Amino acid sequence: MTRHLARVLPTPPDKPVPPAAEADAFRTFARGLAAGTLPWTTETANFIGGLFDSLAERWDTEQASGRSEPVLDALDRGGRFPRGVCLELGSGTGTYTPALSRAFTTVISVDLSQRMLQQARGRSPVRIRADASRLPLPDGSVGTVVAVDILLFAQETARVLRSDGVLLWINQLGPQGPLFLPGDDVARALPGTWQAVEADAGWGTWASLRRARYRPVSSERVTRLAAYGRTRPRRMRSRQSASGEAGRVVHAFTDGSAAIRPWRPFRPARCSATRSRQEPCAG
Ligand SMILES: C[S@@+](CC[C@H](N)C(=O)[O-])C[C@H]1O[C@@H](n2cnc3c(N)ncnc32)[C@H](O)[C@@H]1O
Repeated sequence: MTRHLARVLPTPPDKPVPPAAEADAFRTFARGLAAGTLPWTTETANFIGGLFDSLAERWDTEQASGRSEPVLDALDRGGRFPRGVCLELGSGTGTYTPALSRAFTTVISVDLSQRMLQQARGRSPVRIRADASRLPLPDGSVGTVVAVDILLFAQETARVLRSDGVLLWINQLGPQGPLFLPGDDVARALPGTWQAVEADAGWGTWASLRRARYRPVSSERVTRLAAYGRTRPRRMRSRQSASGEAGRVVHAFTDGSAAIRPWRPFRPARCSATRSRQEPCAG
């Protein structure tokens, strides 16, 4: 489920909207790739790499939107970010690497296009030419992945992210951008359960995604949940799970539901002595 934050950074005038037909075609591919219904092949990688090689020299003057509002707002309101490496996927000419370097101690910039990486000299201190679909990084080695206007390689992104890692997904031109995917689609494409926080900023949008996790129940919350029970002593009050099973609340999930551990049947004291001899309990 995505939580939407109110916009704080306004839309500047003169948004550079790409031609609709071209943007539509790219968006269809981006959606299919994220959902796993379209493949990423060597031919596609060569085509995209070649395309950006040919655009590299003119990228900063003709193609880059040059608007950093979505990135800055995401860094400001999309945290807290775990310590450790920030991996910038599809870093291009490094337009946003300096902003990332102010927020993270180590930024690794990855791009498919050699020429785009060359243009990033002086902006991106650590540059690696690699395909985001097959990253040369170990499992769980990255704290934050930042993806500004790039295709989503969901499995690979999730693989390199730590269990508490964050994906900052940024669409510089919002729904009109050629690679636009809303936070809900990104969360659905990632393996497992993810929660997103999303906002509009400048011309674009950003989403900050992290894995949904158990959080331990605070004693206050246990008491509140236990108040539903009527007949047991306070410490032993029960709650019913969705299936009607009575038990003790052992975990509350961030979506408000709870995990219930079933009550064990009562055993008289003599049973524990019997059980310790590994014999079946008659009680
Ligand atoms: C639209 S540009 C965005 C560049 C930069 N993030 C920016 O906002 O200025 C997309 C970048 O992603 C890179 N890219 C595309 N597919 C990639 C892949 N599979 N792996 C790594 N980089 C990729 C392209 O070479 C290009 O530099």
